[in-house]
Amino acid sequence: IIDPALAGKRAAARRAVEEHIRSNQVVGIGSGTTIISAVERMVELVEARSLNNIVCIPTSFQARQLIIENKLPLGTLEQYPEVDVALDGADEVDADLNLIKGGGGCLTQEKIIASCAKEFFVMADDRKITDALGTYWKKGVPIEVVPMAYRPVQLKIQKHLGGVVELRMAHKKAGPIVTDNGNFLIDWCFDGTPDWLEVDRKLQCIPGVLETGLFLKMAQKAYFGTPEGNVTVRV
Ligand code: A5P
Repeated sequence: IIDPALAGKRAAARRAVEEHIRSNQVVGIGSGTTIISAVERMVELVEARSLNNIVCIPTSFQARQLIIENKLPLGTLEQYPEVDVALDGADEVDADLNLIKGGGGCLTQEKIIASCAKEFFVMADDRKITDALGTYWKKGVPIEVVPMAYRPVQLKIQKHLGGVVELRMAHKKAGPIVTDNGNFLIDWCFDGTPDWLEVDRKLQCIPGVLETGLFLKMAQKAYFGTPEGNVTVRV
C-alpha cells in the first residue's frame, strides 16, 4: 500500500532531524510511520560521520525494533532519565500545538518520553494541521485503560463528558487491541470543542485510566510536510 502522505511525512521528519538532532544527545524515538523517515535521516547522518555518540530511547516495541534494525545505540529511561530531545509523529495538531496522539496505540510511553525531554518536536504531513482538534482526526481521543476497568471508564466518560467511547478492536474475532503495556485502548469521539486542559484533567481522574492521547502544551515546534516535499513550521 502506498501512503499518499509519505512525501510530506518524510520531508517534515528529515527537516526536524537536521534542525534538532546533534551529536552526544539522548534522543527519544517516537512511534508510527513518520518516525521511520526521521530514523532513516539519522542513520544517513551517522554514516556520514556528522552525527556521533547518540543514544536512542524507544517509545514502543515498534520504535525499539526500528532502532535495533538500523543499528543505532539503544538506551532506556532507567539509564538515561533525562532525554535531550524527543521526536514523534501526531494524529492531529491544533493552533496551540496541542496534539492528539495514540492512533497507533503507543500514547503512554510516547507521553512519558516526551515529558522527560528538554525539547519535544512533532513531525507530520500537512493534513494534520488544524485549528481545532477533531477537525481532521475523526477517530476520537485514544485513552489507555486497565483492562478490567474499560467498561465503567467507557460509561463514566459518556455520562460526564458526552460523546461516544469505543473499545478499540484488533479484529472482531481477535478481540481488543492490547498495548505494549498490556492494557486496552478506548477511543473517545467527543462533541464540540472542549476545554482540553479541563477535559484531560477529568479523564485522568477516572480510576482505570492510565493515560490519554491528549498532548497539551508539550511540543515546542511542529513540522508539516506537503506532498511536494515543502515544509512549514508551527511554533
Ligand atoms: C502512535 O501511537 C501515534 O501516537 C503516532 O505517533 C501517531 O499516530 C502518528 O503516526 P504516523 O506517523 O504514522 O502518522
